Formats: sequence, C-alpha cells, structure tokens
Amino acid sequence: MEFKTLPVVQGDYQLRDYDETVAAFSWADAEKQFSWHESGKVNIAHEAVDRHAESYRKNKVALYYKDGNRKEAYTYYQMKRMTNKSANVLRNHSTLERGDRLFIFMPRSPELYFSLIGTLKLGVIVGPLFEAFMEGAIFDRLSDSEAKAIITTPELVDRIPVDKLPHLKTIFLIGENIVEDGMIVDFNKHMKNASHSFQVEWMDKEDPTLLHYTSGSTGKPKGVLHVQEAMVQQLQTTRWVLDLNDEDIFWCTADPGWVTGTAYGIFGPMLAGGTMLVVGGRFSTEGWYEAIEEYGVTVWYSAPTAFRMLMGAGEGPMKNNDLSSLRHILSVGEPLNPEVIRWGMDAFKQRIHDTWWMTETGAQTICNFGCLPIKPGSMGKPVPGIEAVIVDDQGNILPPNQMGNLAIKKGWPAMMRQIWNNPEKYDSYFVNGEWYVSGDSAYMDEDGYFFFQGRVDDVIMTSGERVGPFEVESKLLEHPAVVEAGVIGKPDPVRGEIIKAFVALHEGYEPTDELKEEIRQFVKKGLAAHSAPREIEFKDSLPKTRSGKIMRRVLKAWELDLPAGDLSTMEV
Ligand code: WTA
Repeated sequence: MEFKTLPVVQGDYQLRDYDETVAAFSWADAEKQFSWHESGKVNIAHEAVDRHAESYRKNKVALYYKDGNRKEAYTYYQMKRMTNKSANVLRNHSTLERGDRLFIFMPRSPELYFSLIGTLKLGVIVGPLFEAFMEGAIFDRLSDSEAKAIITTPELVDRIPVDKLPHLKTIFLIGENIVEDGMIVDFNKHMKNASHSFQVEWMDKEDPTLLHYTSGSTGKPKGVLHVQEAMVQQLQTTRWVLDLNDEDIFWCTADPGWVTGTAYGIFGPMLAGGTMLVVGGRFSTEGWYEAIEEYGVTVWYSAPTAFRMLMGAGEGPMKNNDLSSLRHILSVGEPLNPEVIRWGMDAFKQRIHDTWWMTETGAQTICNFGCLPIKPGSMGKPVPGIEAVIVDDQGNILPPNQMGNLAIKKGWPAMMRQIWNNPEKYDSYFVNGEWYVSGDSAYMDEDGYFFFQGRVDDVIMTSGERVGPFEVESKLLEHPAVVEAGVIGKPDPVRGEIIKAFVALHEGYEPTDELKEEIRQFVKKGLAAHSAPREIEFKDSLPKTRSGKIMRRVLKAWELDLPAGDLSTMEV
C-alpha cells in the first residue's frame, strides 16, 4: 500500500504538518534515539527513566498519582531512585534471573510503577495482571509461563493457588503489617533500606520485556511476548499520535493489566520524557472530570465505553469542572461511534482521535495521527512505517472499498515476537509468512482510510476489554448445574458488547433466576467480574457440529434474529 512521505526532523518527531518533500520515515532512523545506537545494548527502563533523570528533565514530574486522598508526585530523578530501589529488593530477595517471569497483580499505585520498571531493570520479563482476576485466571497465566515470582497485595494474595504452582518461589507483598514467612517477602520493609543505585542489565533489542496474556476465540489465554525494540514505535507514536510535548500533562485511563496501560500508560509517555497522570480506583464521571481540572490534563487517552458513559451522564456533571485544558483526545479498544465524536466536539471543543491496534501489535498502528483530517467512523490511516492492507482468506490483497481481513506487513518494531509456549499458534497469524492477519474485518476507502467492520472470530470486546468465549464457557462448565454452554458478544449501546451465555442444564436442575445469578457469581469468582455473563439464557440443548463443537454463530443468529447461515455441519 502506498502512503505519503512524512516529515522527520532530527530531534523533532512531531507530525503536525504534512510536508511531502521531506524524506520518507524509517524505523532505522528512529532507533538512533536510543543507546543501542552507540553501545549496541539497551534497556527500556533506562530509556524511559534513567536517561531523563540524567538530563535537563531531572526535576520534571514523571508521574502524578491520585486515588481519593492519596496524592503523590515523582520527578524523573525520584523515579530513577525508586525503580533502582525496587530492582535491588527484587534481586536481593528472590532467585530471579534475566529472562525469568515475574507477575504484577495489584491495583494502580506508585509501587506498581516502581516495581514494574524495577523488574525490567533486572532483565526479568513482566506479566501484568488486572486486579479483577480470580484464581482460575491467575493459575492459567502463572502456570503457562512458569512464573517464579509475583508482586501483589495482602488483599489479593489469597487468589494465588500457590500449591498448584510449583515454579512459584517468591511472593512480594506490598501493604501493611506483613509477616515474612516461607515465600512471603515484605516489599516496603526492604524498600526502606535498599540502595538507590543499581546497574541496569544491558539487553539486546530482541530481548523480551513484557508478557501480556490475551484472549482468542479458542483455547486458554495466550501469552503475547514483546521485546525491547517495541520502544521505538511506542516513542514515535507518542510523538505523532498522542502529540505529546514537554509541557503536556497526559492521562491514559487504562490499567497496566491491559496493553494500553503499559504501552501508553507507562512507556510511550516516559520514553518521551512526558508527565503522566495515573488515577486509581474505578470509573466515575465526577472523579474523572475533577482529575482533568485538578491536574490540567492536556492530552487524554481513553476508550469508547468511557466516552459513552460520560456522554450518558449529560452536561450536568461537566459544568462543575473547567475542562478547557484539554487540547488532544484519543480513543482505543472498540469502534468509536461518529455520534461520540460529535458529542466530543460539543462537550470539549475537540475531535476525539480514534486509534486502532492490538495486544499483538504492541503499539498503535492505524490512527488518526497528527494533522490527518478525521473521517468520523474511520480509525484513520497506518502510521508512518506501518503498511496495512485488506486481504481475502487466501491472503490476496483486495482493492479499496472491499471488505476483508485487516492485515499488517510483518516486521514493525513493536510486533509480538512469540506466543509463549506455542510457536504453531504464532505462525498461524501470518499468511504467506508476510502479512499478520489481525482477526478484524475492515475495508479501506480510496483515500487510504480504514474502517473497522467487526471481529472475524468470536472474540468479545466488552467495555473495551477483550474476553475469549472459550474461557468463559470452560468456567461455566465447571458449575455442577451446567451441561453445555455457549458464549457470545451481544451488541450493547454503552459497552459495545455484553457477554451473553446460553446454557443447558443437567437433569434435575430448575431454570430459575436464582440459578442464573448463582452461575453468574460462579464465573465472577472463578475468572473475573468483567468475564461474567451479564445475560444468561437457558436452553434445552445447544446447536453443535457433528464433532460436538458449540456453534456460536448459530447462537448469535438466534440472538440477533438473523438467518443462521450454512447449517450443513450441524448435528441433527
Ligand atoms: C478492537 C487493545 C475498533 C479490535 C489495544 C482489536 C478496535 C481488539 C479499535 C484488540 C478501534 C481496538 N476500533 N476496534 N479503534 N482498537 N479494537 O488486544 O477488535 O485488548 O482486534 O488491544 O480491539 O484488543 P486488545
């Protein structure tokens, strides 16, 4: 695919103006920003923190944190010291070595950020876990990756099935009144005395950094492995797409348990030497507007579900706060309705910029970047350096305005490099060894803008969170009353989709509302609140293929009152 050449000026990577006379952008040039250009070695934690702590940005605030009355601020200099101390605590109180896996399972707090970056200083791979995960979800991720250590809190530690995880050797607890016993280490106690100097492990750019587990339509969640080199794209897109400048206050609302919360909730802004705000706790209309005013947020990155919830709350709450600091707003995770863009124009006097990418792409790929005029309903164009096309099921490139599979040319810097423990799965994403096929369907118009059409598979996007139906079905089947279960995403005006389960019961169970609630709670307690079906419908039996696979396609057709399509493989 063809896209126009874009301006790249050494030291100034902002894409404000479109000047076609400037040489085409290349990732190789962008790499010159980092230390491997000189030494051949790199560490993302050094580039995101220490590099700035040693520059004119030393006393600039890197992180503002707010949760209720807890309000803190850390400069780059202080971040360097805190992440060094964390690295020393991790090294001195575990057997962790380069390449080992450590998970972080806690709500957003400054300690989460110190320890996550500290882990990377050791060259250890970090697996971030969303705090809502329950035992089953945690077991799947820690056992698949043979994690050696976890950082968590006294409130969450009981969800870790230690007896079933033979590789797990150390649990770092962050909280009050911790008793060190067996594998338990009191993180804060050792932080007090830890040295604030630490020599980062120098890594190769292909060395792994983060392991984000994410859902597909079949099988357990898969571990998507990212590498050091992702930083090149994270920084470039922070410049071009987030348009982050030195004077900005940037707020990404995502939790580091999801890829947005690491790529743009930590690394993009810090690689750029920016100032970021982290707001703890759950979504609240008043709390969010208050945070924008209190910190003077200028660049704001959130998700369509959040914007729709704010839109639904109306003008009332908005009037209590001055939101005029906002100058650039972005969205990710689900289709951004044109109606929401129009609301944004009214409410904030700003266009909301849609960005499209995935855990697997590791950074933004198709976006309404910089100066690009927005076509509402389109997620924008490939960012410079990314080549995107629409292919048919055989991998042939389709002309404009034809719907097909959205695919990206292999080899961009932030691309996942492995599916943990599953090389066949990894290879299956690439057609002709050249194009990464995303699982989304889309078309491209004659101007090169991409329009999202839906998922090709059964993956559910609910409130911007990606849920695999198989994981939910497996959990449902563990309930004693359930004999068959099929799970689909049902369109929802606010959440994008909600999870709906069709369930057949064992003989002797009555299909009551109480049982529905019990089953819902069962999934919530076993997996996570966001994975629990909001709707359950009992059926005598579910449509299956002759090999016994539940046909979700037919369930969806039932739900939407659509023709069920080809039923030739259905069991009769
Ligand atoms: C969906 C989130 C429409 C898409 C960063 C993709 C979107 C999946 C958009 C990845 C968008 C993401 N418009 N759909 N702008 N952005 N998606 O891995 O289906 O949690 O495949 O990464 O979210 O979800 P993931």
